[in-house]
Amino acid sequence: MTNILITGSLGQVGSELIDYLSASFVGKIYATDIREESTLKPNSKVSYEVLDVRNMESVENILDEKNIHEVYHLASILSAKGEQDPYMAYNVNLTGTINILNACVTEDVKKVFIPSTIGVYGPEVDKANAPIRHNSIPTTMYGITKFTSEMLFQYYHNKYGLDVRSLRYPGLLSYKVAPTAGTTDYAVSMIREAASGNSYECYLERNTKLPMLYMPDAMQATLRLMTSPEEAIQIRTSYNVMGFSFSPGELEEMLKEFNPDFTVTYKPDFRQKIADSWPYSIDIQDAVNDWNFKPEFNLRDTVSDMIKNFKCQLI
Ligand code: NAD
Ligand code: SER
Repeated sequence: MTNILITGSLGQVGSELIDYLSASFVGKIYATDIREESTLKPNSKVSYEVLDVRNMESVENILDEKNIHEVYHLASILSAKGEQDPYMAYNVNLTGTINILNACVTEDVKKVFIPSTIGVYGPEVDKANAPIRHNSIPTTMYGITKFTSEMLFQYYHNKYGLDVRSLRYPGLLSYKVAPTAGTTDYAVSMIREAASGNSYECYLERNTKLPMLYMPDAMQATLRLMTSPEEAIQIRTSYNVMGFSFSPGELEEMLKEFNPDFTVTYKPDFRQKIADSWPYSIDIQDAVNDWNFKPEFNLRDTVSDMIKNFKCQLI
Protein backbone atom coordinates (compact mmCIF):
# COMPACT_ATOMS: atom_id res chain seq x y z
CA MET A 1 0.00 0.00 0.00
CA THR A 2 1.42 3.37 -1.06
CA ASN A 3 -0.11 6.57 0.31
CA ILE A 4 0.38 9.42 -2.13
CA LEU A 5 0.13 13.18 -1.62
CA ILE A 6 -0.42 15.45 -4.65
CA THR A 7 -0.06 19.22 -4.33
CA GLY A 8 -1.60 21.56 -6.90
CA SER A 9 -3.86 18.65 -7.87
CA LEU A 10 -6.63 20.73 -9.49
CA GLY A 11 -4.39 22.06 -12.28
CA GLN A 12 -3.81 20.90 -15.85
CA VAL A 13 -1.33 18.19 -14.83
CA GLY A 14 -2.72 17.16 -11.44
CA SER A 15 -6.26 16.53 -12.58
CA GLU A 16 -4.92 14.03 -15.15
CA LEU A 17 -2.18 12.50 -13.02
CA ILE A 18 -4.75 11.48 -10.40
CA ASP A 19 -6.45 9.16 -12.90
CA TYR A 20 -3.15 7.56 -13.94
CA LEU A 21 -1.98 7.11 -10.33
CA SER A 22 -5.28 5.69 -9.10
CA ALA A 23 -5.24 3.17 -11.96
CA SER A 24 -1.70 1.97 -11.23
CA PHE A 25 -1.15 2.18 -7.43
CA VAL A 26 -2.74 0.36 -4.52
CA GLY A 27 -3.25 2.79 -1.67
CA LYS A 28 -4.83 6.13 -0.88
CA ILE A 29 -4.33 9.37 -2.81
CA TYR A 30 -4.55 12.65 -0.90
CA ALA A 31 -5.22 15.31 -3.53
CA THR A 32 -4.58 18.86 -2.30
CA ASP A 33 -4.65 22.38 -3.69
CA ILE A 34 -4.96 25.92 -2.37
CA ARG A 35 -8.52 26.16 -3.74
CA GLU A 36 -11.42 25.57 -1.32
CA GLU A 37 -13.60 23.57 -3.70
CA SER A 38 -12.41 20.43 -5.47
CA THR A 39 -13.20 20.15 -9.19
CA LEU A 40 -12.09 16.50 -9.29
CA LYS A 41 -14.49 13.81 -10.39
CA PRO A 42 -15.48 11.38 -7.58
CA ASN A 43 -13.01 8.51 -7.06
CA SER A 44 -13.10 6.14 -4.07
CA LYS A 45 -9.28 6.08 -3.84
CA VAL A 46 -8.97 9.88 -3.71
CA SER A 47 -9.80 12.36 -0.95
CA TYR A 48 -9.43 16.14 -1.26
CA GLU A 49 -7.95 18.62 1.24
CA VAL A 50 -6.91 22.27 1.10
CA LEU A 51 -3.13 22.73 1.40
CA ASP A 52 -1.09 25.89 0.83
CA VAL A 53 2.46 24.68 0.15
CA ARG A 54 3.88 27.98 1.44
CA ASN A 55 2.87 26.89 4.96
CA MET A 56 5.59 24.56 6.30
CA GLU A 57 3.59 23.44 9.34
CA SER A 58 0.61 22.40 7.20
CA VAL A 59 2.91 20.50 4.84
CA GLU A 60 4.58 18.61 7.70
CA ASN A 61 1.23 17.87 9.38
CA ILE A 62 -0.37 16.31 6.32
CA LEU A 63 2.67 14.12 5.57
CA ASP A 64 2.65 12.92 9.17
CA GLU A 65 -1.13 12.49 9.66
CA LYS A 66 -1.71 10.66 6.38
CA ASN A 67 1.44 8.55 6.61
CA ILE A 68 2.56 9.62 3.13
CA HIS A 69 5.10 7.49 1.21
CA GLU A 70 5.31 9.41 -2.08
CA VAL A 71 4.73 13.06 -3.02
CA TYR A 72 3.87 14.54 -6.43
CA HIS A 73 4.50 18.26 -5.92
CA LEU A 74 2.69 20.10 -8.72
CA ALA A 75 1.67 23.37 -7.00
CA SER A 76 3.27 26.15 -8.98
CA ILE A 77 2.80 29.53 -10.64
CA LEU A 78 3.62 29.16 -14.33
CA SER A 79 5.46 31.50 -16.68
CA ALA A 80 2.82 34.04 -17.76
CA LYS A 81 1.11 34.35 -14.38
CA GLY A 82 4.57 34.48 -12.79
CA GLU A 83 5.48 37.59 -14.79
CA GLN A 84 2.27 39.27 -13.60
CA ASP A 85 3.05 38.51 -9.94
CA PRO A 86 6.75 37.61 -9.60
CA TYR A 87 6.70 37.81 -5.79
CA MET A 88 3.90 35.25 -5.55
CA ALA A 89 5.70 33.04 -8.10
CA TYR A 90 8.85 33.20 -5.95
CA ASN A 91 6.94 32.23 -2.81
CA VAL A 92 4.86 29.41 -4.28
CA ASN A 93 7.62 27.97 -6.48
CA LEU A 94 10.63 28.29 -4.19
CA THR A 95 9.30 28.47 -0.62
CA GLY A 96 6.71 25.83 -1.54
CA THR A 97 9.35 23.54 -3.03
CA ILE A 98 11.84 23.80 -0.17
CA ASN A 99 8.98 23.20 2.28
CA ILE A 100 8.09 19.99 0.45
CA LEU A 101 11.71 18.81 0.23
CA ASN A 102 12.45 19.61 3.86
CA ALA A 103 9.23 18.07 5.18
CA CYS A 104 9.86 14.92 3.12
CA VAL A 105 13.19 14.54 4.95
CA THR A 106 11.79 15.19 8.44
CA GLU A 107 8.68 13.02 7.85
CA ASP A 108 10.67 10.21 6.20
CA VAL A 109 8.94 10.29 2.81
CA LYS A 110 10.89 8.09 0.43
CA LYS A 111 10.19 9.38 -3.07
CA VAL A 112 9.21 12.77 -4.55
CA PHE A 113 8.28 13.91 -8.06
CA ILE A 114 8.60 17.63 -8.87
CA PRO A 115 8.27 18.82 -12.47
CA SER A 116 10.62 21.37 -13.95
CA THR A 117 10.23 23.13 -17.30
CA ILE A 118 11.77 24.43 -20.51
CA GLY A 119 11.53 27.76 -18.68
CA VAL A 120 14.89 26.96 -17.02
CA TYR A 121 16.60 27.97 -20.28
CA GLY A 122 17.44 31.55 -21.16
CA PRO A 123 17.75 33.42 -24.47
CA GLU A 124 21.40 32.54 -25.14
CA VAL A 125 20.82 28.75 -25.11
CA ASP A 126 21.32 26.74 -28.33
CA LYS A 127 17.76 26.85 -29.70
CA ALA A 128 17.83 23.40 -31.30
CA ASN A 129 18.30 20.27 -29.16
CA ALA A 130 19.18 22.26 -26.03
CA PRO A 131 21.26 20.08 -23.67
CA ILE A 132 20.25 19.24 -20.08
CA ARG A 133 23.30 21.01 -18.67
CA HIS A 134 23.47 24.55 -20.00
CA ASN A 135 24.99 27.91 -19.17
CA SER A 136 22.04 30.09 -20.13
CA ILE A 137 20.35 32.19 -17.46
CA PRO A 138 16.54 32.18 -17.34
CA THR A 139 14.96 35.62 -17.64
CA THR A 140 11.50 34.93 -16.12
CA MET A 141 10.73 34.56 -12.42
CA TYR A 142 9.21 31.16 -13.29
CA GLY A 143 12.49 30.08 -14.90
CA ILE A 144 14.61 31.45 -12.06
CA THR A 145 12.56 29.60 -9.44
CA LYS A 146 12.52 26.35 -11.42
CA PHE A 147 16.25 26.52 -12.21
CA THR A 148 16.98 27.03 -8.50
CA SER A 149 14.55 24.23 -7.63
CA GLU A 150 16.54 21.86 -9.82
CA MET A 151 19.64 22.72 -7.77
CA LEU A 152 17.63 21.98 -4.61
CA PHE A 153 16.53 18.56 -5.95
CA GLN A 154 20.18 17.61 -6.43
CA TYR A 155 21.17 19.08 -3.06
CA TYR A 156 18.48 17.18 -1.12
CA HIS A 157 19.39 13.99 -2.94
CA ASN A 158 23.11 14.35 -2.27
CA LYS A 159 22.85 15.59 1.32
CA TYR A 160 19.88 13.59 2.65
CA GLY A 161 19.49 10.71 0.19
CA LEU A 162 15.97 11.92 -0.69
CA ASP A 163 14.88 10.19 -3.90
CA VAL A 164 13.79 13.31 -5.81
CA ARG A 165 12.92 12.76 -9.47
CA SER A 166 12.06 15.39 -12.05
CA LEU A 167 11.11 15.98 -15.68
CA ARG A 168 11.47 19.22 -17.57
CA TYR A 169 8.07 19.21 -19.22
CA PRO A 170 7.77 21.25 -22.42
CA GLY A 171 4.37 22.80 -23.29
CA LEU A 172 1.74 20.21 -22.39
CA LEU A 173 -1.22 19.68 -24.71
CA SER A 174 -4.45 18.36 -23.19
CA TYR A 175 -8.23 18.75 -23.38
CA LYS A 176 -9.53 17.91 -19.88
CA VAL A 177 -8.54 20.96 -17.79
CA ALA A 178 -7.67 24.17 -19.63
CA PRO A 179 -4.20 25.58 -18.93
CA THR A 180 -4.45 29.19 -17.77
CA ALA A 181 -1.09 30.37 -16.51
CA GLY A 182 1.56 29.49 -19.09
CA THR A 183 3.03 30.75 -22.35
CA THR A 184 2.51 27.52 -24.33
CA ASP A 185 -1.25 27.54 -23.50
CA TYR A 186 -2.06 29.16 -26.88
CA ALA A 187 -1.76 25.77 -28.57
CA VAL A 188 -4.54 24.18 -26.49
CA SER A 189 -6.76 27.25 -27.01
CA MET A 190 -6.14 27.26 -30.77
CA ILE A 191 -7.04 23.57 -31.11
CA ARG A 192 -10.17 24.03 -28.97
CA GLU A 193 -11.36 27.01 -31.05
CA ALA A 194 -10.76 25.13 -34.32
CA ALA A 195 -12.79 22.18 -32.96
CA SER A 196 -15.58 24.57 -31.92
CA GLY A 197 -15.78 26.23 -35.36
CA ASN A 198 -14.47 29.59 -34.06
CA SER A 199 -11.57 31.77 -35.15
CA TYR A 200 -8.59 32.41 -32.85
CA GLU A 201 -6.43 35.42 -31.91
CA CYS A 202 -2.92 34.21 -31.03
CA TYR A 203 -0.74 36.06 -28.50
CA LEU A 204 2.49 34.68 -30.03
CA GLU A 205 3.95 35.44 -33.45
CA ARG A 206 3.28 33.02 -36.30
CA ASN A 207 6.86 31.62 -36.42
CA THR A 208 7.61 31.07 -32.72
CA LYS A 209 8.54 27.41 -32.48
CA LEU A 210 8.40 25.64 -29.07
CA PRO A 211 8.74 22.05 -27.84
CA MET A 212 5.52 20.28 -26.83
CA LEU A 213 4.23 16.92 -25.52
CA TYR A 214 0.76 15.37 -25.47
CA MET A 215 -0.56 14.71 -21.96
CA PRO A 216 -0.82 10.88 -22.25
CA ASP A 217 2.89 10.77 -23.15
CA ALA A 218 3.71 13.16 -20.29
CA MET A 219 1.83 10.91 -17.86
CA GLN A 220 3.50 7.73 -19.17
CA ALA A 221 6.89 9.44 -18.82
CA THR A 222 6.08 10.49 -15.26
CA LEU A 223 5.02 6.98 -14.21
CA ARG A 224 7.97 5.38 -16.00
CA LEU A 225 10.41 7.74 -14.27
CA MET A 226 8.81 7.16 -10.87
CA THR A 227 8.68 3.36 -11.14
CA SER A 228 12.24 2.94 -12.47
CA PRO A 229 14.82 1.48 -10.07
CA GLU A 230 16.71 4.11 -8.10
CA GLU A 231 20.05 3.19 -9.67
CA ALA A 232 18.67 3.95 -13.16
CA ILE A 233 18.15 7.60 -12.27
CA GLN A 234 21.41 9.28 -13.27
CA ILE A 235 20.11 12.86 -13.57
CA ARG A 236 19.19 14.39 -10.23
CA THR A 237 18.42 17.88 -11.52
CA SER A 238 15.76 17.19 -14.17
CA TYR A 239 15.39 15.10 -17.35
CA ASN A 240 14.43 16.75 -20.65
CA VAL A 241 11.34 15.26 -22.32
CA MET A 242 9.43 16.40 -25.42
CA GLY A 243 7.39 14.93 -28.28
CA PHE A 244 7.56 17.41 -31.17
CA SER A 245 8.02 21.13 -31.96
CA PHE A 246 5.78 23.48 -33.90
CA SER A 247 5.01 27.17 -34.34
CA PRO A 248 1.55 28.77 -34.17
CA GLY A 249 1.62 29.07 -37.99
CA GLU A 250 2.39 25.36 -38.41
CA LEU A 251 -0.38 24.45 -35.97
CA GLU A 252 -2.79 26.71 -37.88
CA GLU A 253 -1.95 24.89 -41.13
CA MET A 254 -2.48 21.50 -39.48
CA LEU A 255 -5.83 22.61 -38.03
CA LYS A 256 -7.01 23.75 -41.48
CA GLU A 257 -6.81 20.11 -42.55
CA PHE A 258 -9.50 19.36 -39.95
CA ASN A 259 -11.45 22.61 -40.38
CA PRO A 260 -10.73 24.39 -43.72
CA ASP A 261 -12.61 27.53 -42.58
CA PHE A 262 -10.42 28.02 -39.49
CA THR A 263 -8.67 31.42 -39.30
CA VAL A 264 -6.04 32.81 -36.91
CA THR A 265 -4.96 36.40 -36.36
CA TYR A 266 -1.65 37.20 -34.64
CA LYS A 267 -1.40 39.83 -31.91
CA PRO A 268 1.72 39.16 -29.81
CA ASP A 269 1.64 40.36 -26.18
CA PHE A 270 4.06 40.13 -23.20
CA ARG A 271 4.22 36.34 -23.59
CA GLN A 272 6.17 36.69 -26.85
CA LYS A 273 9.28 37.76 -24.90
CA ILE A 274 8.95 34.70 -22.67
CA ALA A 275 8.62 32.35 -25.65
CA ASP A 276 11.58 34.00 -27.39
CA SER A 277 13.79 33.11 -24.43
CA TRP A 278 13.09 29.34 -24.74
CA PRO A 279 14.57 26.72 -27.10
CA TYR A 280 12.75 25.18 -30.10
CA SER A 281 13.66 21.67 -29.01
CA ILE A 282 15.51 19.94 -26.16
CA ASP A 283 17.82 16.92 -25.99
CA ILE A 284 15.88 13.91 -24.62
CA GLN A 285 18.63 11.29 -24.99
CA ASP A 286 19.27 10.82 -21.24
CA ALA A 287 15.59 10.02 -20.65
CA VAL A 288 15.68 7.53 -23.54
CA ASN A 289 18.87 5.88 -22.28
CA ASP A 290 18.16 5.82 -18.53
CA TRP A 291 14.48 4.83 -18.33
CA ASN A 292 13.32 4.28 -21.90
CA PHE A 293 11.34 7.46 -22.55
CA LYS A 294 9.25 6.74 -25.64
CA PRO A 295 6.54 9.24 -26.64
CA GLU A 296 3.85 7.73 -28.88
CA PHE A 297 2.02 10.77 -30.24
CA ASN A 298 3.17 12.98 -33.12
CA LEU A 299 1.56 16.37 -33.82
CA ARG A 300 -1.05 15.02 -36.24
CA ASP A 301 -2.22 12.23 -33.89
CA THR A 302 -2.32 14.70 -30.99
CA VAL A 303 -4.39 17.25 -32.89
CA SER A 304 -6.74 14.57 -34.19
CA ASP A 305 -7.32 13.12 -30.70
CA MET A 306 -7.79 16.54 -29.10
CA ILE A 307 -10.26 17.71 -31.77
CA LYS A 308 -12.30 14.52 -31.33
CA ASN A 309 -12.42 15.02 -27.55
CA PHE A 310 -13.16 18.77 -27.72
CA LYS A 311 -16.04 18.00 -30.11
CA CYS A 312 -17.42 15.41 -27.62
CA GLN A 313 -17.33 18.11 -24.91
CA LEU A 314 -19.48 20.36 -27.15
CA ILE A 315 -22.30 17.80 -27.39
P1 NAD B 1 -1.63 24.75 -13.20
O1 NAD B 1 -1.45 26.23 -13.12
O2 NAD B 1 -2.67 24.21 -14.13
O3 NAD B 1 -1.89 24.15 -11.75
C1 NAD B 1 -1.16 24.56 -10.62
C2 NAD B 1 -2.02 24.36 -9.41
O4 NAD B 1 -1.30 24.84 -8.26
C3 NAD B 1 -3.35 25.13 -9.46
O5 NAD B 1 -4.44 24.24 -9.32
C4 NAD B 1 -3.25 26.12 -8.30
O6 NAD B 1 -4.49 26.34 -7.66
C5 NAD B 1 -2.25 25.43 -7.39
N1 NAD B 1 -1.58 26.35 -6.46
C6 NAD B 1 -1.18 27.62 -6.69
N2 NAD B 1 -0.63 28.15 -5.56
C7 NAD B 1 -0.65 27.18 -4.62
C8 NAD B 1 -0.24 27.10 -3.28
N3 NAD B 1 0.33 28.15 -2.65
N4 NAD B 1 -0.42 25.94 -2.60
C9 NAD B 1 -1.01 24.88 -3.21
N5 NAD B 1 -1.46 24.89 -4.48
C10 NAD B 1 -1.27 26.03 -5.19
O7 NAD B 1 -0.20 24.12 -13.56
P2 NAD B 1 0.10 22.69 -14.20
O8 NAD B 1 0.18 22.88 -15.66
O9 NAD B 1 -0.78 21.65 -13.64
O10 NAD B 1 1.61 22.50 -13.69
C11 NAD B 1 1.99 21.50 -12.77
C12 NAD B 1 3.49 21.43 -12.73
O11 NAD B 1 3.99 21.09 -14.03
C13 NAD B 1 4.18 22.76 -12.35
O12 NAD B 1 5.31 22.49 -11.58
C14 NAD B 1 4.61 23.32 -13.70
O13 NAD B 1 5.73 24.15 -13.58
C15 NAD B 1 4.95 22.05 -14.44
N6 NAD B 1 4.90 22.25 -15.88
C16 NAD B 1 3.71 22.37 -16.54
C17 NAD B 1 3.72 22.58 -17.91
C18 NAD B 1 2.46 22.72 -18.70
O14 NAD B 1 2.52 22.94 -19.92
N7 NAD B 1 1.29 22.59 -18.08
C19 NAD B 1 4.94 22.66 -18.60
C20 NAD B 1 6.12 22.58 -17.88
C21 NAD B 1 6.10 22.34 -16.52
N1 SER C 1 3.77 25.40 -20.26
C1 SER C 1 4.64 26.09 -19.36
C2 SER C 1 4.51 27.56 -19.51
O1 SER C 1 4.24 27.99 -20.62
C3 SER C 1 6.08 25.68 -19.62
O2 SER C 1 6.65 25.45 -18.41
O3 SER C 1 4.68 28.26 -18.56
